[in-house]
Amino acid sequence: MHIPFCESKCKYCNFVSGNFSRDIQEKYIDTLIKEINSYKIQNNVSTIFFGGGTPSILTAEDIEKIILAIKNNFKISKNVEITIECNPNSVSLEKLKKYKKLGINRISFGVQSLNDSVLKLIGRVHNKKQALQAIKNARLAGFKNINVDLLLGIKENKNIFQDICLLKKLGVTHISAYMLILEKGTPLFNQAKQNKVKLMSDDESVEEYENYLKVLKQNGFNRYEISNFCLKGYQCQHNINYWECGEYIGFGVSAHSYMNGVRYSNTENINDYLKDFNKKQFEKLSSQEKLEELIMLGLRTKRGVSLKKLAEYKYEPLKNKNALKLLSVGLIKINKTHLYITSKNFGIANQIILKLVE
Ligand SMILES: C[S@@+](CC[C@H](N)C(=O)[O-])C[C@H]1O[C@@H](n2cnc3c(N)ncnc32)[C@H](O)[C@@H]1O
Ligand code: SF4
Repeated sequence: MHIPFCESKCKYCNFVSGNFSRDIQEKYIDTLIKEINSYKIQNNVSTIFFGGGTPSILTAEDIEKIILAIKNNFKISKNVEITIECNPNSVSLEKLKKYKKLGINRISFGVQSLNDSVLKLIGRVHNKKQALQAIKNARLAGFKNINVDLLLGIKENKNIFQDICLLKKLGVTHISAYMLILEKGTPLFNQAKQNKVKLMSDDESVEEYENYLKVLKQNGFNRYEISNFCLKGYQCQHNINYWECGEYIGFGVSAHSYMNGVRYSNTENINDYLKDFNKKQFEKLSSQEKLEELIMLGLRTKRGVSLKKLAEYKYEPLKNKNALKLLSVGLIKINKTHLYITSKNFGIANQIILKLVE
C-alpha cells in the first residue's frame, strides 16, 4: 500500500510523496479502497506492507478502513506479516496501541541517524530523542518486530558502536542500513553540487559501512541482504518475496505489481490516480528479462538465487562461462540449492551480477 503523504519533504528523497491536505488524503483513501475492491483473488496473502511516504501520518482509523477492505477481498494467511512505515514524530503510544489491535505486527521507523545535526542537514522533521521515544513506545505497545532505517554516507559517525548497542537495547530487531543515493534534482543533490554541503567521499562512505558491518555483527545482527540486518528469526518476509521474484500486488499511486509473469504499474501522478486508479501500464517480461531479475534480486541476499529456479530458465552456472570464471576466483559460490555471493564480496555485487547476466 503506497501512502504518498509526508509532513514535509526530506532533502534527499525522490519517492512519490509530499505534503497534501486532509481533503486529498480522504479522497486518496477512498480511491485506494476502490482499487482494493476491484480485485477478487483467492490466493493467500502472506504479507501486507504500508509504505510511502509516511503511512503513520494517517489516523489509525484510516489504516483500519484499508485493512478491512483487504480482509474483505483477500484470503489472509494465519501468520500474516503486516508492516507499517512510521516517521518517529507521527506516532504516539496511543496510535501504536491501535495499530497493534488492527493486527499490525511489524513497525518500521525511518530513524536515519541518531545525530541531531545530521537529521537537520537532511531535513528530517524529528530528532534523536523523538526517535528513541518512538521505539520505546512501540515496545510498550507490545511490538516485538521493530525495524529501523538508517541512512549512511552523510557525515562521519564516531558513535556507531554506542548507536547500535542502544538500538539493540531498546528492542530493535531489524536494521536497514542504506547508503545515501544523491538523487538528481533533490535539494541535497543541488547543495552538494554547489559545494554548500560537504558529504562523505566514496572512500569514506565505504570505510564507514565496513565499520557498521563489524558492529552490527558483534551485536548479533545477521546481514541477510546487502542492506538488511536482523536478529535471528526477524527477517522481513515481505522483502524476501521481492528478492525471490514472488508475486505481489501494489495499491496506490506509483505502486507496482507482478502477477502471472506480467508487471504493471499505476500512474505516478496523484491527481491522475484519483481520477482513474485503473489506468495501468503493463509490461510483459521476456524469459531473458525474468532470468536477469531472478539473478539480480536473488544475489542481493545471503542465501543467493535458487538453482532450481535458474534451471527453469535453462541457466546452469556450471555450464556458463562467466559463472565458471567467477566461481574459480571465489567471487561467487555454489551449494546444493543456491548460487550466492559471499558476504565479503557484497561490496562489488553489482559488478558480479552484471557479469552473470552479460
Ligand atoms: C519510504 S522511506 C521510510 C518511511 C518514512 N517515509 C520515513 O522516511 O521515515 C524508506 C527509506 O528509504 C530510505 N531512503 C529514502 N531516500 C533515500 C536516498 N536518496 N538514498 C538512500 N536511501 C533513501 C530512507 O532510509 C527511508 O527511511
Ligand atoms: S524519506 Fe520518508 S519522510 Fe522523508 S520525504 Fe521521503 S518518504 Fe517522506
